[in-house]
Amino acid sequence: MTGELILEQVNKSYGPEVLMLRDVNLTLAQGTHLSVLGPSGSGKTTLLRIIAGIEPIDSGRIVFNGRSLLDVPPYKRNFGYMFQDFALFPHMDVFQNVAFGLKMKKMARQSVNTRVEQMLDLTGLTGYENRRVNELSGGERQRVALARTLAPQPRLLMLDEPLSSLDRVLRQKLLGELTAIISDLNITTIFVTHDHEEAFAAGSTVLVMKEGRVEQKGSREDLTLRPANDWVRQFLS
Ligand SMILES: Nc1ncnc2c1ncn2[C@@H]1O[C@H](COP(=O)(O)OP(=O)(O)O)[C@@H](O)[C@H]1O
Ligand SMILES: [Mg+2]
Repeated sequence: MTGELILEQVNKSYGPEVLMLRDVNLTLAQGTHLSVLGPSGSGKTTLLRIIAGIEPIDSGRIVFNGRSLLDVPPYKRNFGYMFQDFALFPHMDVFQNVAFGLKMKKMARQSVNTRVEQMLDLTGLTGYENRRVNELSGGERQRVALARTLAPQPRLLMLDEPLSSLDRVLRQKLLGELTAIISDLNITTIFVTHDHEEAFAAGSTVLVMKEGRVEQKGSREDLTLRPANDWVRQFLS
């Protein structure tokens, strides 16, 4: 039962006017690959931020492996969060970027080296150790970001629109590479996107959001053949 995430009746507002999440319920079994799909402003990033613990919630419960997360600070959750803009350290080389989280955890140097090499191998970056990240292409940067996020062996992986800063052609290519890497890992993953083709490619289950609410959760077939309402039908067409 490791890696099971449950959200119950989660509400999050920003001031009295802006409701960002409304009564969100979600159960994710260990190893599930979920995509969160919704238009801009629907609350996708907010959902990741509250799971990561970067933002507090107003009410509800968030439980991971049977334990409430509400009193667990972000750094103790051991969740991986890949930001939309990758947020790499520009003054560090590839090795240092990937090693960063391991050094923060005070891992021994030899273990850091081994783990970084494994991650570079996984993401096809062997030989890039000493390259500066600002010399890399968008696709290479994305792979460094993924290697850095996976290095500390997170219990949950969250990816916030990981392809949105890339051009169309590259996006198509990297979507395939990224989903291939993720699907080989037995890690619970939440992939956020506003693009339905991406959502269906990245997750076996898709959660559709609108204005902070979950409109529907299901497989590609559920959503396309049995949309919960007209809005979902139109949004997916
Ligand atoms: N810091 C903030 N202050 C006020 N409103 C915010 C803030 N961050 C996000 N919002 C609002 O919360 C809602 C959800 O935003 P967000 O989670 O970023 O959506 P998405 O990632 O789906 O585009 C939007 O209406 C947005 O305007
Ligand atoms: Mg967002």
